[in-house]
Amino acid sequence: MGRYNVPEISADVFLVGVKDWNRKIFDALIPLPQGTSYNSYLIRGKEKTALIDTVSPGFEGELTAKIKQMMVLTDLDYIVMNHAEPDHAGAISHILQMSDKTTLLATAKGAKMIQRYYKVPEEKIKIVKDGDTVELGGKTLRFIEAPFLHWPETMFTYLVENKVLFPCDFFGAHTAFGLYDEDVEEIIPFAKRYFGEIMMPFRTMAIKALEKIKELEIKIIAPSHGPIYKKPERILEAYRKWTSGETREKAIVLYISMLGSTETMIKAMVETLFSEDIEVSLYNLLGADIGEIAKDFVDSRAIVLGMLTMLGGMHPLAGYATYLIKAFRPPLKYGVILSSHGFGGGAVQQAREIFGHMQIEVIGTLDVDGLPTDDDCQNIAEIGKQLSHKMKG
Ligand code: FEO
Repeated sequence: MGRYNVPEISADVFLVGVKDWNRKIFDALIPLPQGTSYNSYLIRGKEKTALIDTVSPGFEGELTAKIKQMMVLTDLDYIVMNHAEPDHAGAISHILQMSDKTTLLATAKGAKMIQRYYKVPEEKIKIVKDGDTVELGGKTLRFIEAPFLHWPETMFTYLVENKVLFPCDFFGAHTAFGLYDEDVEEIIPFAKRYFGEIMMPFRTMAIKALEKIKELEIKIIAPSHGPIYKKPERILEAYRKWTSGETREKAIVLYISMLGSTETMIKAMVETLFSEDIEVSLYNLLGADIGEIAKDFVDSRAIVLGMLTMLGGMHPLAGYATYLIKAFRPPLKYGVILSSHGFGGGAVQQAREIFGHMQIEVIGTLDVDGLPTDDDCQNIAEIGKQLSHKMKG
């Protein structure tokens, strides 16, 4: 045995990727409470070998050491690039420089990206199209174009004989824990968080991709982040639900308060929603984990936004929250906007316009001068009841 553990996840398919325990943030935006992994897979056919995706820059040494435990690196025939983002394509140039024989397989868009971003020469690249196959000897790679999951060039690779699907980011989860889905107790919440951050903006494309793979017999889903699914039906079912935009009787409540007025209003709203048996996910925007917000966006039917008015408009953190709605495109249907102000309003109108653009039906708004009175709280309770009624309707 070599220095590294290189698990065989299916016959002659080896996990040679790496775990990044120390990574704390992704895309300079999303916290990673459990780090992440960059899964790369080596497939050994009778005649040829292929590497599915690589790893993030900085981990080239570990990846190549693992490959060398299994074979002579310069004998590698193919690297399959499912996705050009650096967390998966970041070691391609490194390997190609070490191995003259290796050809890169990518979509036409992927080929352009890899030349531009990583300076890979055109003659090292072979373009593959939807449905194309490559034979390794007793192992057949079939390529399935899956644009925008997560970039325009993305594709999935299906290993026909083993019935293993390599979908790169799709079905992924940012956690360094575990090898298989059964090893991670909270795998579905982690996958949901990942879906909210990365896939939710592309739900239409995700539905198309699920349709494309519907007829495939899939024994294993081997994504490029997080655990490998030995029981794929659980994550397939979750993705069918999340991509469909199916929501629950659940409200996500995002608020920012400075002197307590907005918080008092939010409490009145949350108490009402609880009394109406509405599920509530509450986040104070001051220090909230965006990944958790993204997770709760996936199946929330309504949003309550509470904020103070600052300099004639939304507090910047409330503006940030509305930007996240625009970016992540959650299937929210209804909204309530609550605000408090000192010497002038403006925040409610700003938020109302943004909700309108996002086709979120505004059920009620309230803008309070200073501290909310008992009558204000009574008004909020009424708005909360109307919202609950709509959500249940
Ligand atoms: Fe894991 Fe879109 O890269």
